Amino acid sequence: MLEVVTIDGPSGSGKSTVSKALALKLNYNYLDTGAMYRAFAFEVLSKGFENNREKYIELLKDFQIKFHYNDDGSQRVICNGKDVSDLIRTPEVSMWASTISKEKEVREKMGYLQRKMGEAGKLVAEGRDMGTIIFKDAFAKFFLFATPEVRALRRFKELLEKNISTDYEEVLEDIKRRDEQDSNRDIAPLKPADDAVLIDSSKLTVEEVVNKMYVIVMEKRQLWKFM
Ligand code: DC
Repeated sequence: MLEVVTIDGPSGSGKSTVSKALALKLNYNYLDTGAMYRAFAFEVLSKGFENNREKYIELLKDFQIKFHYNDDGSQRVICNGKDVSDLIRTPEVSMWASTISKEKEVREKMGYLQRKMGEAGKLVAEGRDMGTIIFKDAFAKFFLFATPEVRALRRFKELLEKNISTDYEEVLEDIKRRDEQDSNRDIAPLKPADDAVLIDSSKLTVEEVVNKMYVIVMEKRQLWKFM
């Protein structure tokens, strides 16, 4: 078994905030795998290769990503030497990240990088396929979800705080379209692992979700260490 906690779920379910806070509480590292797909999508868009599959698959060869962590749990995403942390959060990159994440070659490369980052253990990994595919042997798995309306409102507020102009209806439509894409793709569709604990975050605060998870992780870790 791996000393990894996986948190999967749709966009806006609160995965990132919760994963960061849980990692901090457990003294684990935090891996935001969505940021990896986003960084690659950004790279493809910057090069103008979005309509040229051959060319963007080629880009995977030299794709490099690094995370820099600050003491407060925040992170910077460095892709091919450039800080892209804020650039990868636009609606355009979100949509394109969802689109290219259906591609087998893209998933293979990201999966390889993710497993490497998980080798050292003590990791909270968040994404769509962490518990079902990448870290099947994780000792604790969660699937975090919330209604599309609650998720859209959260994402809308986040974008406003970052001064990215948008409107609520547009964000809701985007969320629904991405849910559809992420859940219905052939490879690694978004779904809970059979052994994941399901948590509905619609009516819970971040603190409540983190505390719930923390208790479960501690119990599972205890059981696992006795095995
Ligand atoms: O979690 P996020 O919204 O930052 O992820 C952006 C996109 O990346 C999402 O629409 C689907 C894709 N993704 C994925 O396919 N697998 C992951 N493990 C993480 C993200």
